[in-house]
Amino acid sequence: MDDARFSPDQASPRHVAIIMDGNGRWANARGLPRTLGHRQGAEAVRRCITGAMEMGIPFLTLFGFSSENWRRSSREVDDLMGLLRRYLQSEIAEFHKNGIRLRVIGERDRLPGDIVRLIDDAEKRTSENEALTLVIAISYGGRQEIAAAARQFAAAVAAGELAPEDIDEDTFGAGLLTAGIPDPDMVIRTSGEQRLSNFLLWQSAYSEFIFVDKLWPDFDKSDLEAAVAEFRRRERRYGAAAESL
Ligand code: IPE
Ligand code: IPE
Ligand code: MG
Repeated sequence: MDDARFSPDQASPRHVAIIMDGNGRWANARGLPRTLGHRQGAEAVRRCITGAMEMGIPFLTLFGFSSENWRRSSREVDDLMGLLRRYLQSEIAEFHKNGIRLRVIGERDRLPGDIVRLIDDAEKRTSENEALTLVIAISYGGRQEIAAAARQFAAAVAAGELAPEDIDEDTFGAGLLTAGIPDPDMVIRTSGEQRLSNFLLWQSAYSEFIFVDKLWPDFDKSDLEAAVAEFRRRERRYGAAAESL
């Protein structure tokens, strides 16, 4: 079945990133409050993490809350923060037991202090784990991330610690929140929307995009498998001519 000699297909992705969209519409369609859509979305997160581990995917990034999502009603933001708090409290021990390393990317200083402490502790506690690196993007925005890195480099140059010509793609990438994490091979977005919404702008330069109509709370392992199968049929060229690869 997976005899690489006879298959021109891509290898499996090392890094899968998912824009988990559609919780609100899932709830709306059932006459339920949006919070219940988010709660159901948390179940899909569990299924997806288990699925990724079973499929041997080493890096999984999940977009849970964007820098722009702070614009939602304070009630929805509070609900989402409450859900995140409970999720971290209940899952960290399980993550650790299963060899999952947690990394959280985003504007951490905008999060409630107790959640920041939970995240710091979880990252420290799981830092040696190797089965799966789970990256959760919370209060994350790609433009904000790039601007923050540029600010840091500018400060280092102003302080005479760095020469402008030393800033290249590699050094710049190492200044981002995703330092040390390979770029996503594929980005999946659920709910039929076909846009990035400020997700991993720098890192997704050569990612394959897969758009799925299902709403996030309905997403399961078979959807992840179907997306990976689709990825493996794609031809990645990175700007080179097809026949040279
Ligand atoms: C995704 O679902 C979760 C977050 C952005 C927090 P949405 O809440 O965006 O759901 P829709 O897009 O309104 O259906
Ligand atoms: C993107 O979804 C953010 C997450 C899924 C966490 P949004 O629902 O916020 O994106 P837009 O507003 O439809 O672009
Ligand atoms: Mg949405």
